[in-house]
Amino acid sequence: MCIKVSPAFSLAFALVLALPMFAIVPSFAQRPSPVAQWNFEEGTGRDTSSSEVGNAGTLQGDAGWDLGVTGGHALRLSGGTGFADIPSAVVDTSRSFTVTACVKLHRANGWQTLVSEDGTQVSGFFLQLRGDSGEFAFTNLSKDDPASDTTLAGSKVDPLPEVWYHLVGVYDAAAQTLSLYVNGILQQTTVCRSPWRATGHTIIGRGKYGGNPVDFAAATIDTVRLYASPLSAPEIRTLYAADLPPANRSLDTVRPGTMRIDSSRPGPPLSLSQHGLMTEEINHSYDGGLYGELIQNRAFQDDPKEPVHWSVRQDGGALGTIRLDQDQPIAGTALTTSLRLDVTAAGGRVGIANEGYWGIPIRPNTTYQASFYAKGAPRVSGPVTVSLESADGQTVYARADIRGVSGAWQHYRVDLKTRRAAPVLGRFVISVGQTGTLWLNLVSLFPPTYQGRPNGNRPDLMEKLAGLKPAFLRFPGGNYLEGDTIASRFDWKRTLGPLPQRPGHQTPWTYRSTDGLGLTEFLQWCDELKMEPLLAVYAGYSLNQYRNPNPERVLPGPALRPFVQDALDEIEYLTGGPQTKWGALRIKNGHPEPLRLQYIEVGNEDNFDASRSYDGRFAQFYDAIKAKYPRLKIIATIPVRSRVPDVIDEHYYLPPRAFEQDVHHYDHYDRRGPKVFVGEWASQDGNTTPTLNSALGDAAWMTGMERNAEVVVLETYAPLLVNINPGAKQWDHPNLIGYDALSSFVSPSYWAQEMMVTHRGDVVLPATVDNAVRFADSVTRDSSTGVIYIKAVNWAAQAQPMTITLAGTGRIMPNGTAIVLTSPDLEDANTVAEPRKIVPVTSRLMGLDRSFSYQFAPHSVTVLQLQTK
Ligand code: AHR
Repeated sequence: MCIKVSPAFSLAFALVLALPMFAIVPSFAQRPSPVAQWNFEEGTGRDTSSSEVGNAGTLQGDAGWDLGVTGGHALRLSGGTGFADIPSAVVDTSRSFTVTACVKLHRANGWQTLVSEDGTQVSGFFLQLRGDSGEFAFTNLSKDDPASDTTLAGSKVDPLPEVWYHLVGVYDAAAQTLSLYVNGILQQTTVCRSPWRATGHTIIGRGKYGGNPVDFAAATIDTVRLYASPLSAPEIRTLYAADLPPANRSLDTVRPGTMRIDSSRPGPPLSLSQHGLMTEEINHSYDGGLYGELIQNRAFQDDPKEPVHWSVRQDGGALGTIRLDQDQPIAGTALTTSLRLDVTAAGGRVGIANEGYWGIPIRPNTTYQASFYAKGAPRVSGPVTVSLESADGQTVYARADIRGVSGAWQHYRVDLKTRRAAPVLGRFVISVGQTGTLWLNLVSLFPPTYQGRPNGNRPDLMEKLAGLKPAFLRFPGGNYLEGDTIASRFDWKRTLGPLPQRPGHQTPWTYRSTDGLGLTEFLQWCDELKMEPLLAVYAGYSLNQYRNPNPERVLPGPALRPFVQDALDEIEYLTGGPQTKWGALRIKNGHPEPLRLQYIEVGNEDNFDASRSYDGRFAQFYDAIKAKYPRLKIIATIPVRSRVPDVIDEHYYLPPRAFEQDVHHYDHYDRRGPKVFVGEWASQDGNTTPTLNSALGDAAWMTGMERNAEVVVLETYAPLLVNINPGAKQWDHPNLIGYDALSSFVSPSYWAQEMMVTHRGDVVLPATVDNAVRFADSVTRDSSTGVIYIKAVNWAAQAQPMTITLAGTGRIMPNGTAIVLTSPDLEDANTVAEPRKIVPVTSRLMGLDRSFSYQFAPHSVTVLQLQTK
C-alpha cells in the first residue's frame, strides 16, 4: 500500500512554512484527516488505493482511467457499468461525516451518483447529480427503503459538461443537517433528522435504489475523500483551493458564442393577442385580493356554526354577545344567515369587529363606503356607530353614525373618511350604546376601486395586471370552474345581479367565494384592461371524480344537455343583443355592450376525469356551440378523436431547469394540427412567489412559445395572484403577483413576462446561436418601426460573450437599448418588504453595427433593442 500526501495536506504544509514564526497557526493535530482518500493516480490496472491504510478499491465494469484535474490520473466512468468498489462502509452514515470529490461530468443531465455507500435497498447517502432538477445534491433517504422520505441539500450551480467541480457533502449529526458545497461555496443546508447506518460497500460512480445499482455516472472523478467528522466552511474552502487549480474552475470558463440573425427570412407573424391572463379564486385572488371588498365573511355564510372573522367588542363596562341567526332571513334575497348582537348591559359601547382579509387596510385621506342591512328589537333609538380603528382599538381613524335603525330589515350606507395618518392594518367596527338586539347582514366596506367602479377591483393589482398588456382573460378557472362537486362548480347564473341575490359558493380551494366578483364583474374587468374574454364553460367534470371513490358523473347524452344549454346561455350573456334573453339580462346588469368573444374552452384538465368521457362530452358541446356560433373557436383541454378542436389547452408546471431544457418543445410541433393554448404554465422551484431562478425558466420557456407563435396562439401563466398571509394561500408554488391587505409586489417572473411582451414586434426573425451553453433566445422585429428585439436568457452562472451579426437588414443605428433582469443570487426574490429587489435595468448601447459584441450577464434575462434604418 502506497501512502500518498494529499494535495490539501501539502498546501497546508507549504502555508505553514511560509508563515512568520510568531504567527499563530493551527496545529496539524487539529486538521481533520480523512478516513480514506482515493487519488486515482494508478492510471493502469483494476486496483485503486486509498491514501490511508485499508480501503483499497477495484475498478468494476467499464471503469477506466483518465487525465486528472491536476494532471496525473483520475477515474473515468462512461455512464454504462463502471464504478470503483471499496468493499466496506468507510464511514458510519448515522454519525457525522464528510465526503468530497472532484468531478467532471461528460453529460450534465440524468441521474448520476458520484459517491455513495450501499445499504441493502438504497444508498446511505448520494453525492449526486439529480435527474429531476439537473442540480448537484447531497441526498439522504430516511430509511433503507426507496419509499422513505428524501432529504437533500441542493445547489443552484449550473453544471456544465467537461468542467471540473469540487463537491462536498456534510452530514452534521449534532446539528442534524445535510449541507452541500460546490466549489467551496455553501449551496444549501437542510434539516435531516433520520440518519441510518449503511453497512455495504463504499461506491464511487453509482448509487443503489430498490436493491439495484443505479445512477451510473458519466464522469471523470478525482480526489475522493471521506471524513468521519463534519468539515467546516473554512476547511472546505481550503480543500477547494487545493484540489481545483484556478484554470480548472468552472466559473472561470467562458466560451465566446455567436448569434446570426437573418432579417431577410422572417418567420411566423407575432401578435399581441398571444399573451393573456389566467385567473381563478385561489389564494384569495378575488376575495381578499383583486375584488375590492374589505370585510371577510360579510354575509355570515363562511362557517355555518360560527361568525368567523367577527368578534364582539365590549368597552366601558357594556356587555353583549354575538351569534349566527338563521331565523331572520331577508325576504327575496340569498341573505339567509345574519349576525345577532345582544347587548345585555349598557354603559360604554358593544359592537362587532371584522378583521378583514388579514387586516383592514386603513390609508390616509381616503373615503371608504360602508354599508349593511340592519334591524333592531326594539328599534334602535340611539346611533349605530361605524368606525375604522387600529387593531387594538386605541386609535379611531374614521367614524360615522347612522340613526333610525328600525325593527324591519333596511339597507344603510355611510362614507368613512380618514384623515392624515400612516397606512395601517386595522379593524372595522359597528357598535351601539344601548341594550337590546341588533341583527346585521351583508356588511360591506369598499375603498376606492380601479376607475371608481362600484363593486370594483383593487387599483394597485389592476395596475400591475395592466402592465402585462394582456390581450385576453381566461376565466373563471381552473379548478374553480369545475368545483369539487357539480353543485359547487362555477354556476355563473348564481353570480349575477345585485349582491343580496348572490348566495356565494364553496370553492375547491378550501374557502367560500362571495361571488361578488361574478360573471358581470369578469366582463367589466375585461373592459377595464381592454382584454377579450376567453370563456371556459363547465363541461360536466368536477374534481370529486378523481378524489372520490363514488363520484357524481355527468356523462355524454341527456344528462349533459342542461350543461350544454348553460354554456350556450352564457355565450349569449356575453355576446347577445337586447332582443336576446341573456343579452338583455347583461344589459340590465349594467353592461350594455356585447363583448367580442373568439374562444370558448370546454372544461379544464379533463385528463383527470377517471370516466374518460371527455371525448363524448366535448363533441356534444362542440356541435351545439358550432351550430349556434360557427365563428367561435373551441378549445379542448386534452386531445380528442371525436371532433377536431380548433385549439388544445396544454398545462406545464415544471422545475426551472426542465423549462430551460425544453425550450425547443414547440419547434417540432405539427404546423397543420390544432393550435396550442398554453393555458397554465409556471416554473416551480419550491417558493410561493417566483425567484430569479424561476424567472429564468419562465423566460426561457417564453422564448420557445414566442418563436413558435404560429403554433402557440395563446398563453397564460398560472396562478396569477397570491395573498401572502399565512393561511391565505393554497398554491404552495410560485404565483406571479403577491400582496397583503396594504401592499403588493411583482415577482422576477412578472418582469420577465413584461420584458418579453412589451418588446414584442410583429414577426419572428430566424437566429442561429453557436457555442453558447444554457442560453435561450427569440429575435423579433416590429415592421412598423424597424426595431429589432433580441430576447435572450443566459441561465449559466458565467457571463456569455456573444458576437451578434445581422444579415438582410438595413443600417443598424449605433445607439440602442439593453434591458437586463438579474440579481446576485438565483434565490433572490421580491417581497412586500423588498418589492424592488429585482427589477429590469435599462442602459444605453453604443457603437452598434451589423456585427457587434455583447456580453449577456450571468443568470439574466435580456432584451436588446436595435433600431434599423
Ligand atoms: O393553477 C392552479 C390549478 O392548477 C388550476 O386550478 C388547475 O387547472 C391546475 O391544476
